[in-house]
Amino acid sequence: MTSHRIDALSPGVFSLDGRDIEFGPGDTIMQAVTRAGGYIPHLCWMEGFHPHGSCRLCTVKVNGRMGAACTVLASTGQIVESDTEELRTLRRTLLQMLFVEGNHFCPSCEKSGNCRLQATAYEAGMTGPHFEEFYPQRKVDASHPDLLLDLNRCILCELCVRASHDLDGKDVFAVSGHGIDAHLVVNSPSGLLGDSALLATDHAAKVCPVGALLPKRQGFAVPIGKRKFDLKPISASSPFDEAPQ
Ligand code: SF4
Ligand code: FES
Repeated sequence: MTSHRIDALSPGVFSLDGRDIEFGPGDTIMQAVTRAGGYIPHLCWMEGFHPHGSCRLCTVKVNGRMGAACTVLASTGQIVESDTEELRTLRRTLLQMLFVEGNHFCPSCEKSGNCRLQATAYEAGMTGPHFEEFYPQRKVDASHPDLLLDLNRCILCELCVRASHDLDGKDVFAVSGHGIDAHLVVNSPSGLLGDSALLATDHAAKVCPVGALLPKRQGFAVPIGKRKFDLKPISASSPFDEAPQ
């Protein structure tokens, strides 16, 4: 392992699966690995947003202890393991739980091929749901003239919540309830998206990693089979493509 002095001017180095990764002051493990062109699976993290640490897809072992790569700060000499059978199995289980607790029917979803949940599951080698499906009854809100909100597909990543608060300054979305009762709510007099301040041009309207929040009247503009994650796996796609501009 390379020895590096760490201070505000000099980067430090940690090891990810035996590869040296440089980091700067304040970097999380996820930020440093992403900048170095590496991939750690993630759903609730996106470059440019403060980390949320809820999906646990990015779980790695840091010096032998489990931690979320999107929230653990990088430090010199850390030994980080990500690409191990133990962690791949854990991530597959988390993905299977996400699939069964919502209603995700990829072949009929407009987001298919552009969906981070689907692409992450492919990457993780998930071949079936494993657990019994919950088939919850959830709302579809088509009240907005330009946007559709389908809570059947919401994975509660809170990217729209953070985008609306931090980037749009609107607080259109929030999460209410806990555990299995947690759900996305819309801040408007009626609770409907059509009565909210959300515009199709807002960051919050464009950030959803799955097909829960979609623009209307743009279905199948790109054929299935030619979409982003149809062309290359999520591990080879740059997370910076999706970062807020
Ligand atoms: S609507 Fe999309 S962005 Fe918002 S919490 Fe649900 S999955 Fe995440
Ligand atoms: S990406 Fe780290 S917890 Fe979701």
